[in-house]
Amino acid sequence: MKKRYLAPLVLTALFFAACGGGDKKAEQETTKTTQENNAVDNSMVSPGADKPASKGEQLMAQSDCKTCHKEEIKVIGPALKDIAGKYPNTPENVDKLADKIIKGGSGNWGEVAMLPHPNVSKEDAKEMVQYILSIGK
Ligand code: HEC
Repeated sequence: MKKRYLAPLVLTALFFAACGGGDKKAEQETTKTTQENNAVDNSMVSPGADKPASKGEQLMAQSDCKTCHKEEIKVIGPALKDIAGKYPNTPENVDKLADKIIKGGSGNWGEVAMLPHPNVSKEDAKEMVQYILSIGK
C-alpha cells in the first residue's frame, strides 16, 4: 500500500530537482561566458605596455629627429640602423656624434646638412647616440 503513494512523490521530487538544477547550471554558464569576455577585453587595453622605451629613444621622440630619421629607411637623414652600422659604439664615436647632433653639419652621408640642435644638452645627445647605436644589435 505505501509504495503506491511513494512513487508519485519521488517523481515529483525528481521533477523539481531537475528543473531547479537545470536553471542553476544555465545561470552559471552565463556568468562564465561573461567572465571570459571580460578577460579578452582586458588583454586588449594596452598591448606592449610592458616594453618601456629607452631614455634616448624617448628624447628623440620628443625632439624633431623623426622628421628626418627613421629606423629602417633613409628619409632626409640616414636610417638610424645605417648610422648604427657605420659607427662602433666607442666613447669617441658617441662623443663625436653627440657634438654633431648639437652643432649640425654635413659631409659624412652626403651634401644634405643636419640642422643644429643647440637646445639639446650634451648629456641628452649622448643618450640619443647610445640609442641609435644600439639599433639592430
Ligand atoms: C633637418 C633634418 C634632420 C633632423 C631634424 C635631424 N637630422 Fe640627424 N642627420 C640629418 C642629415 C642630413 C644627416 C647626414 C649628415 C652628414 O652627411 O654628415 C644626419 C646625420 C645624423 C647622425 C650621423 C652623423 C654623422 O656624422 O655620421 C646622427 C647620429 C644624427 N643625425 C642624429 C640625429 C638626432 C639625434 C636628431 C634629433 C635631435 C637628428 N639627427 C635630427 C638630418 C637631420
